[in-house]
Amino acid sequence: MATHMDTVRVALGERSYDILIGAGLLARIGAFLSSLNLGQRGVIITDTNVEKLYAAKLRAVLAAEVITVPAGESSKSLRQASRLLEMLPGLKLDRRSFVVALGGGVVGDLAGFVAATYLRGINFIQVPTSLLAMVDSSVGGKTGVNLPQGKNLVGAFYQPRLVIADTDTLQTLPERELRAGFAEVIKTAAIWDAGFFTWLEQHGQTSLAEAVRRCCAIKAEVVSRDEREGGLRAILNFGHTVGHAMEALAGYAGVLHGEAVALGMCCAAELSVKRAGLKREEADRLKRLIANSQLPTRLGERYRLEDLRAAMQLDKKTVGGRLRFVLLKKLGEAVVSDAVTDADLEEAIYVCR
Ligand SMILES: NC(=O)c1ccc[n+]([C@@H]2O[C@H](COP(=O)([O-])OP(=O)(O)OC[C@H]3O[C@@H](n4cnc5c(N)ncnc54)[C@H](O)[C@@H]3O)[C@@H](O)[C@H]2O)c1
Ligand SMILES: [Zn+2]
Repeated sequence: MATHMDTVRVALGERSYDILIGAGLLARIGAFLSSLNLGQRGVIITDTNVEKLYAAKLRAVLAAEVITVPAGESSKSLRQASRLLEMLPGLKLDRRSFVVALGGGVVGDLAGFVAATYLRGINFIQVPTSLLAMVDSSVGGKTGVNLPQGKNLVGAFYQPRLVIADTDTLQTLPERELRAGFAEVIKTAAIWDAGFFTWLEQHGQTSLAEAVRRCCAIKAEVVSRDEREGGLRAILNFGHTVGHAMEALAGYAGVLHGEAVALGMCCAAELSVKRAGLKREEADRLKRLIANSQLPTRLGERYRLEDLRAAMQLDKKTVGGRLRFVLLKKLGEAVVSDAVTDADLEEAIYVCR
């Protein structure tokens, strides 16, 4: 059966790679990998949920060991990374061997870090199975783990050799995870492509494969212009300054990353009206799309300004103590701003309560 497949190229000189997007791609993975001229040995790193659903399928077409970590953010730890690393010599992996990350962003970030550091770097393949991983974390080469003091504090920029997004896997993703991933889809459109934003308003979550393709194309473009976040790449953090602070305050429990980003985008929309010239009408369209996607738009009384501000100071998005916000000049165009004052933030949080 011939299935449709899209290819998006990430242009990074000798580190360039393709993102393959389509239905039924897991079954074809052996063929995709053979074109990369890898060594014989490899390992598939996955989590307990994804292992049950897809590991056997992958093993059937790929002669590689499967290593499983517990599902959840707590696996993104140095302890898990060292456990995995210490298993690799026994599997006789060498420089030409490969690591496949089969799962969501947690598995991708962890397995990527392992691939980046074992023998100073072995071949890395991303097989994202969550919407968030397909549209965001599997593309661009950020890998890493958390420290008790904060998220993603240890890691490396390490590009995969190939990304294979089998959109069939989204069928088993829990609804809430799907919606959370959709927040990153909305983000991507809002910062880069007004036409895509309008398309999302029209199509909602009905054409996910097309949404994945468009997000990957945008992320590929941004990353190829600024691989290591020296400038432009920072716009991908739209909604994340407040979002990350809320996640930290919630102790990374109870609120999913995408849900926090949805709320963060609502605050950022208000700040954009105040400081970046975003039209009120466009801010409202953004909030409406978030709400129509069954994502939260109201902070409630849970978050206090002082707590949020303290959490933001600890985040990587402060430079020299000043808060940085990604704001929208209009739908489809973002700027990085340090013009946001405490009073602006207080007002935005008040409006979004
Ligand atoms: N590297 C980057 O550029 C980047 C960007 C954004 C986010 N991230 C990271 O990504 C992580 C979040 O990723 P996530 O939202 O995918 O979380 P996740 O990896 O924890 O996956 C979410 C849940 O869905 C399950 N799951 C995944 N695919 C499934 C499927 N097809 N069917 C059924 N269940 C499935 C997982 O087992 C997990 O329980 C965070 O750690 C975040 O820091 C990294
Ligand atoms: Zn995010």
